[in-house]
Amino acid sequence: MSSNVTGAPRGLEGVVAAQTRLSHVDGKNGVLIVGGYTIEEFAGHVGFEAAAHLLWRGHLPDRAELTKLSSQMAELRELPALTLEVIRGAAAAPPIDALRMACATLSLGLADPNAITPEADLAAAMRLTACFPTVVAAHARIGRKQEPIRPRKDLPLAANFLYMIHGKEPDPSAAQALDTYWVTVMDHGMNASTFTARVIASTRSDLVSAVTGALGALKGPLHGGAPGPVLDMLLEIGSADHAEAWLRNELSQGRRIMGFGHRVYKVRDPRAEVLSRAAERLGKAQMENRQLYDLALQVEQTALRVLAEAKPGRNLRTNVEFYTALVLQALGLDPRQFVAMFACGRTAGWCAHVIEQHAEDHLIRPQSEYIGPVGLKIS
Ligand code: COA
Repeated sequence: MSSNVTGAPRGLEGVVAAQTRLSHVDGKNGVLIVGGYTIEEFAGHVGFEAAAHLLWRGHLPDRAELTKLSSQMAELRELPALTLEVIRGAAAAPPIDALRMACATLSLGLADPNAITPEADLAAAMRLTACFPTVVAAHARIGRKQEPIRPRKDLPLAANFLYMIHGKEPDPSAAQALDTYWVTVMDHGMNASTFTARVIASTRSDLVSAVTGALGALKGPLHGGAPGPVLDMLLEIGSADHAEAWLRNELSQGRRIMGFGHRVYKVRDPRAEVLSRAAERLGKAQMENRQLYDLALQVEQTALRVLAEAKPGRNLRTNVEFYTALVLQALGLDPRQFVAMFACGRTAGWCAHVIEQHAEDHLIRPQSEYIGPVGLKIS
């Protein structure tokens, strides 16, 4: 059998699969750049809608541009009746699955669902990004046998989400923490879900299809599904003096410690730092959150020490999911919703990558190395 396949590393580690102006992950130095800004410069200082404008339009908006984008997205928050039906049908499903099902229905309201022009992509990007928090909030309330609360247009996206899920206007510090979280996770180089979105877009398929596929890639525990288990771990450990024995037992059973390790970062994930500060601010407001935050700090130090001993040379450091768990828990969210919350922020990045890939207009089509038998006969 002849083959001109050149072997790529397992998991495509280190392979550059696209050029992008959106974000850059420097795993050696622990630096994340989004649209030209470091994540520390950006998250907490620029609101989610403005950050989405940066990714979709290439620059931070001026006041008029921000007002326009924010009001356009506020108008798009309401869910079509069919989408609500799907969410009701998916009441018992995990929120990320309900979001994937609902996402697929959102192409129905678009003027031309199959168009891939920059204008059509932007319209679809605004719609999905505006609707995702409404989907997650509606699904949560239906699961609690409550009626969904209709979105308000006068609140920013994050504040409106907390209003819809808790039924009252949130404390400004809670809305700010959620906004910071969504900006922190909105884009992150060529991660698995972004790659999925770009592969789908590269076939000239539409933005909604690409984001629906990306949601499927995000939900796995090796990607976006870790913060729920991080919270379970902290609650099971319960107090700092149990941490070492608990962590060692996990490793001896061959299990991974959630919230640690990263394919690209070999130092502390810079997003963990941003979210640790956001969690600390929330902790100052409430004693219960403060206690969990203090426990997390101690578990983090113990885990780093135990991992360095058990996996020498692997450089397993704290990743974004560790402090995500604390921020989302402090906002009164159910751990089952954590992956879907990640998706609400990341969708802005997926959409930007789809816009970029459609402009690039080049099919992504790698090859495989055949390792099966040859020459078999049926009879
Ligand atoms: N706990 C314990 N061991 C871990 C680990 C963790 N969190 N992460 C990696 N390792 C170990 C692996 O078991 C492997 O050990 P081995 O060489 O003795 O077999 C080694 O470190 C390398 O792991 P590998 O799977 O090749 O690394 P990766 O780059 O493919 O994995 C992750 C990256 C994120 C998938 C991995 O670190 C992980 O599973 N982390 C926990 C889940 C998590 O927090 N996910 C959120 C990511 S943002």
